[in-house]
Amino acid sequence: MSKVNDSGKEKQVSVKVEALLKKMSLEEKVGQLNQVGGAAFSPGPAAEDQIRKGGAGSVLWLNDTQKFNELQKIAIEESPSGIPLLFALDVIHGYRTIFPVPLAMAASWDPDVPEKSQAVAAKEARAAGLHWTFGPMLDICRDARWGRIVEGAGEDPYLGSAMAAAQVRGFQGDDVTDPERMLACAKHFAGYGYSEGGRDYDPVYLSESQLRNIVLPPFKAAVDAGVETFMSAYMDLNDVPATGNRFLLRKVLREEWGFDGFVVSDAFAVANMVIQGHAKDRREAALRGLKSGMNMDMSSYTYTENAAQLVADGVLTEAELDELVRPILTIKFKMGLFEKPYVDETLLEKVIALPEHRATSRWSAQRSMVLLRNEGGLLPLSKHVKKIAVIGPVADSMQATEGSWMVFGHTPTAVTVLQGIRTKLPNVEVTYASGPEIRRDIPSWFESLMAGQERKPEQTPAESEAAFQSALETAKAADQVIMVLGETDIMAGEAASRASLDLPGRQEELLKAVSALGKPVVLVLLNGRPLSINWAAENIPAILEAWEPGTEGGNAVADILFGDANPGGKLPVTFPRRGSHAPLYYARNTTHSPEGSPMYNPRYWDGLPVPLYPFGFGLSYTTFEFSNLKVSSEKIKVGESLTVTFDVTNTGKLAGDEVAQLYIHQKYGTDTRPMRELKGFERITLQPGEKKTVTFKLGKDELTYWSTNANAWIQDPASFDLWAGSDSQASLHAEFEVTA
Ligand code: NOJ
Repeated sequence: MSKVNDSGKEKQVSVKVEALLKKMSLEEKVGQLNQVGGAAFSPGPAAEDQIRKGGAGSVLWLNDTQKFNELQKIAIEESPSGIPLLFALDVIHGYRTIFPVPLAMAASWDPDVPEKSQAVAAKEARAAGLHWTFGPMLDICRDARWGRIVEGAGEDPYLGSAMAAAQVRGFQGDDVTDPERMLACAKHFAGYGYSEGGRDYDPVYLSESQLRNIVLPPFKAAVDAGVETFMSAYMDLNDVPATGNRFLLRKVLREEWGFDGFVVSDAFAVANMVIQGHAKDRREAALRGLKSGMNMDMSSYTYTENAAQLVADGVLTEAELDELVRPILTIKFKMGLFEKPYVDETLLEKVIALPEHRATSRWSAQRSMVLLRNEGGLLPLSKHVKKIAVIGPVADSMQATEGSWMVFGHTPTAVTVLQGIRTKLPNVEVTYASGPEIRRDIPSWFESLMAGQERKPEQTPAESEAAFQSALETAKAADQVIMVLGETDIMAGEAASRASLDLPGRQEELLKAVSALGKPVVLVLLNGRPLSINWAAENIPAILEAWEPGTEGGNAVADILFGDANPGGKLPVTFPRRGSHAPLYYARNTTHSPEGSPMYNPRYWDGLPVPLYPFGFGLSYTTFEFSNLKVSSEKIKVGESLTVTFDVTNTGKLAGDEVAQLYIHQKYGTDTRPMRELKGFERITLQPGEKKTVTFKLGKDELTYWSTNANAWIQDPASFDLWAGSDSQASLHAEFEVTA
């Protein structure tokens, strides 16, 4: 819900909005609902022409400070009512200083990481003249095949809600007039992460129970954190396009949650309702969008083409149109855009990539990385080694390091893993071989959109073989091998779903061949989704999940590999053993005899659908012990709260971070509940030998759920299990009961 701190200010804004609405023509009102594209690939008339006649409320796909001022000048000085434009762009994990991808930031299990990172992103983007980002993406995703899993916080609504609120706070701060913050946009409302088969844009079928218990909580958390805007999702939700979905946009968002900001469609999504077979033609698509409360049409121009006529024909009232325009004008007034519409063109150079921004990025990346394996304490590596070979197709790729969803027009400047290691060890000989290239079987249309990302011509089989052999030779000549494998930036993200979760290309083959040389091998993964690295998980002694770590990614990897930072991240998503096991997640219901009983049915006979790595998992260079799990009271009444405490002790020799996690299981009730649900977490730092007691509250908020049987939010009287530990398979157990 939009926050206006003092109601006096709110009233003043409202008076201004009403006065402006009174003098605006119908065409201008419709114009405010139109978001025009500023790039060549956007259809429709030239942005300037539309702005001049008051036909645009916002501009996207433009990243040019001078041009922002030029367009703003047209809006202010030449359009009939002089209403300033909102400049919008996808600033997903950084503007110039790039941060770890959102999935990685969620792996920090530390809301400070996304909050501080997105605050820097906002500061840089705002200095460039942008007002509004299309983030955070809040789609819960339990299917690692879906490419856009990289943009979200993973599979869990509790963790996802914490990350949602943190990102909103980071982007927006608590004052929309702050010139170093920008408007956030909670997207994609709702259910996009559940596309069938993990295929991007495909339809989604979700029960109300899944929707309310799993998918919607991060969006609600964003509203509670004050998010100013929402974006609809592309696909059909239960056979109704999300873009024209009254249940979502009116009932849930406005009536139940009291959201008073505005909603923008996804790109072309209003017109898309024709393709989806929901609207007869573009006129009907516009009508459906407008009637369902979709305020702004992102570049499909169906509103500008049809809305005035719909009013003239009496199927839409001007009052209905005003209702849609009002929150857009309100935000523009609240932000102070009427008083200060232009950006200082000298600001950007002073602000971008400040050393402190890079330091925040390095810190975020360190905290996001997850240590998946460390047999025999191979890591951290000694800095006193003669020759290190760094091998792999993403080891020296700035694109893969900065990751998916780059800002339009951005040229990567990342420190790669190779560079990071070379900088860390100036006196060590660090050799490098990329090995065979990796590429998508079907190219991405993002390649043609993003500047600075042109790909090299495809390797011939002979070139690939030569690269393979040269990588082997490089490894052979070294004392220590660091393999940097994974995915390129365009292998995850939009239109980047995969059927397989294996390492693409010949990477595993190379890993096996290098490993057979008998040298100590460390595997660093750069990727935007869970990968089914089954062979590596058994055979490579040390594995670091570095994700797509951003501008300072290579330095952060080197910090961790050589012991200047101790990894403490945890997986925000289950790693399946195969793509075909997806969706796979920890918070399942059980429908058959429990594991271990003679009737236990392992579901598949050709490979157990158990995680390769469970949700919440991650190691450290030190060890931790969990003990002393206690509840303040073993019985509480419905509506009452209890306190859970347990101790975490650092039992190793190094200082390190552990994420204390609390899971519950409601044993029976009106509906069946998941076998485990995360209901509390805290990332703590402990010195060797140090012990800390962590405390969590369990009450109405944590124990209420949407019940299919009751068709309502309820809290059952029931018995509960409780587990505390370092991942979703934690074993320290207690129980409590809730009575009527
Ligand atoms: C389509 C994507 O689905 C959405 O996330 C993005 O914000 C818009 N395009 C604008 O670039």
